[in-house]
Amino acid sequence: MELLTQLTASYQDAFHATPVSVCSPGRVNLIGEHTDYNEGFVLPAAIDKAIYLAAGLRSDDAIHLIAHDLGETYVGSISDLSPTHTWADYVLGVVAQLRLAGHKLSGFNCVFGGTIPIGAGLSSSAALENGVGFALNELCGLGIDRLNLLKMSQRAENDFVGAKVGIMDMFASMMGRAEHVIKLDCRSLEYTYAPFRMDGVRIVLCDSQVKHSLVVSEYNTRRAECESGVRFLKVFYPEINSLRDVTMDMLDRHLRETQPLIYRRCAYVVQENQRLLDGVAALEANDLATFGQLMYGSHEGLSNWYQVSCPELDTLVDIARRQPGVLGARMMGGGFGGCTINLVREDGLDAFKTQLTKHYKAATGKDTSIHVCKIENGTHLIHPTIS
Ligand code: GLA
Repeated sequence: MELLTQLTASYQDAFHATPVSVCSPGRVNLIGEHTDYNEGFVLPAAIDKAIYLAAGLRSDDAIHLIAHDLGETYVGSISDLSPTHTWADYVLGVVAQLRLAGHKLSGFNCVFGGTIPIGAGLSSSAALENGVGFALNELCGLGIDRLNLLKMSQRAENDFVGAKVGIMDMFASMMGRAEHVIKLDCRSLEYTYAPFRMDGVRIVLCDSQVKHSLVVSEYNTRRAECESGVRFLKVFYPEINSLRDVTMDMLDRHLRETQPLIYRRCAYVVQENQRLLDGVAALEANDLATFGQLMYGSHEGLSNWYQVSCPELDTLVDIARRQPGVLGARMMGGGFGGCTINLVREDGLDAFKTQLTKHYKAATGKDTSIHVCKIENGTHLIHPTIS
């Protein structure tokens, strides 16, 4: 844990005290994309790439932050929390939420760094927000449970950072369990853990090296398109409140002819929810072949109907599909760049890496970076001693 040692040393150097240390992981999502803000289902997991934080309280109300990987610092105050439009907002947004909820905070110091590739769609921002909330909860003895902490992370991102993201990323990062995926109902927030048997199969992420930016991307537009579909259908079906309540039959009757673009967006979401339910059944039967086919279906919908892919992501999936030993592949997360997620048989892993790297470079001129990941526990303390 070399990084943590460096962060602790950097903290001690800067603040002459011993910090508490928190690990807050990034996430993958097996299937169920752009369904969370439509009150649908998702199937994410926390992974072994994380943000690590070393944090401690101050006796004044100052906030001192050091972003170790960037070599940047931020100094501010608990009583002056306005957006900076920098990485500091992921921290300040959480502090603002804690204050809004009426919690008394003192100033604090925090050094953080991580192993999550930034902009790769692995939710480094949710990991940071969760890590900050978790650390302050510990340090100040606030007694907030995990569910409320992660909801604060989401509101921080929605209201302070300005990205109208759903709850999946924060949920996965905070609630993850080693060797399990989380089947989360984003309407009720009911969830169950399903064992993800990795016998002979690996979760492999291929980074397109195209940097996505949720705020400037079409994410908020997609969200608005889905909401507009629901509003339109509500005239005919007053009982519906989200795409979760909508069927293909409703869409075919009322939207297909009149609003073809909105139809495609909504149809993708309705079908993706069904793919997720079929996927969970396949996992329960340990039928990864069927699960893999559903992943390809998900990608096709994201690319053609929801239109959040990009040529590089499509290329990565096309190449993966042609490799022996690949069970399934699709783009993951918000889209417009970032990673694909692939299920690859262990015995085909080396060939997969070689072929994918070679063909991706030939097709796009870009390098990919490939990460084999393990499913790990959610946000947690590393040294539970507060000095
Ligand atoms: C981003 C958002 C999530 C979710 C995904 C798409 O990761 O942060 O809330 O909407 O995109 O599934």
